[in-house]
Amino acid sequence: MEENNHKPKKTGQRSQKSSMVQWIVSGIIILASIYLIIKTLPGGKNSEEKVQTITGLQEGDDFDKIENGIHLRTGLIDAPGRIETIGNCTTCHSSKLIIQNRMDKEHWAATIRWMQETQNLWDLGANEEIIINYLVTNYPPKKKGRRANLEGIEWYELRQ
Ligand code: HEC
Repeated sequence: MEENNHKPKKTGQRSQKSSMVQWIVSGIIILASIYLIIKTLPGGKNSEEKVQTITGLQEGDDFDKIENGIHLRTGLIDAPGRIETIGNCTTCHSSKLIIQNRMDKEHWAATIRWMQETQNLWDLGANEEIIINYLVTNYPPKKKGRRANLEGIEWYELRQ
């Protein structure tokens, strides 16, 4: 009678190995799910992209882009004093209020004075002259609609 003295195979090592593989795989799956959850949470990368498309500002867009001499973000004419004007004059109200109003030097100064007295506009210091010059240069009073004098007309006498 032949005795089967083959020793039972050591299966212990093998099952140890495969359970380690299982642990690693489930670890990777868990990490991947955590990453995906964080990505879609508010404040994550994905939501940031959404906010950017809402404001219309794309990554790499120039915040102070000038096109045809106009500062696109504010609509103000690009000229000396524009930076000072944007910095001091577009925090309380839109730049449209400036663009819509055309005045001479005295009236721009009076408007600033009025805002200082009634709307808490701060002392503009040395910027005041720069801003007023910018305003009166780029937003002067519109010429009144008086037509040019007629020339070269042959007038005739009215007869009654
Ligand atoms: C502290 C806030 C504040 C700042 C800064 C400010 N303004 Fe104003 N401004 C106002 C308010 C308030 C009004 C009135 C708005 C309205 O009537 O709806 C106004 C009105 C105006 C008007 C319209 C005046 C009118 O007669 O209708 C002009 C033009 C103007 N601002 C220009 C400027 C300029 C130029 C600057 C920069 C020197 C400036 N603002 C900075 C508060 C401010």
